[in-house]
Amino acid sequence: MGFACQILTLYPEMFPGPLGASIAGRALAEGKWSCDTIQIRDFATDKHRSVDDTPAGGGAGMVLKPDVLAAAVDHAIARQPGAPVLAMTPRGRPLTQDRVRSLAAGPGVTVLCGRFEGFDERIFEARPIEPVSIGDYILSGGETAAIVLLDACIRLLPGVMGAASSGDDESFETGLLEYPHYTRPVEWEGRTIPEVLRSGDHAKIAAWRKAQAENDTRLRRPDLWERHGGARVGSPSGAQREKKDR
Ligand code: ADE
Repeated sequence: MGFACQILTLYPEMFPGPLGASIAGRALAEGKWSCDTIQIRDFATDKHRSVDDTPAGGGAGMVLKPDVLAAAVDHAIARQPGAPVLAMTPRGRPLTQDRVRSLAAGPGVTVLCGRFEGFDERIFEARPIEPVSIGDYILSGGETAAIVLLDACIRLLPGVMGAASSGDDESFETGLLEYPHYTRPVEWEGRTIPEVLRSGDHAKIAAWRKAQAENDTRLRRPDLWERHGGARVGSPSGAQREKKDR
């Protein structure tokens, strides 16, 4: 029946959005995943159908009301009890490829998208909701973050990307950034494809790619490099290479 996505949002017209095109769009048309939106405003109870209110303690912006959110979330959980419920918020735990892989292996996801200043915090105590951030920057709403999360899951679904997604070399699959790629022309604007990649020596190519991946990770993502244990390993790429980042 495919990976079932439910999105709770004030802007259902934002879905599937870019996920209706290209690889995800084809997979959607083939039934490999489904995209159902739930309008949060449908669960408002007052005559103005309000979903937000001013922040307790004062301050800018508006906060999504817990009673309205809970009614919407309960409706979504009843429709799809097996799916984890995620809320997109910059206050959430950072999304990782590991988490994406485990979500993609499940039945689907229910994603709650915030607007304004965010959610009344009590919703996280009262319902099993996992707060998720896609990075240390602030978007105008959780919808674009949800699209990122869904895209990352969908490309891993069986039969969606074919051979391209099965590569174990991809960035983060090894705990490192991926090695750099080149294609024809061999010479372009005076720059040539590294000789080793044209040598046909697969062992040498693999060693070169590993060294490049390690060097780039060390220079661009010291946080990943540290976690990888690269500095302790003391590999030539870590200790001796002095190549500067681009
Ligand atoms: N909503 C606004 N900014 C966000 C972010 N960085 N991650 C997830 N949801 C968000």
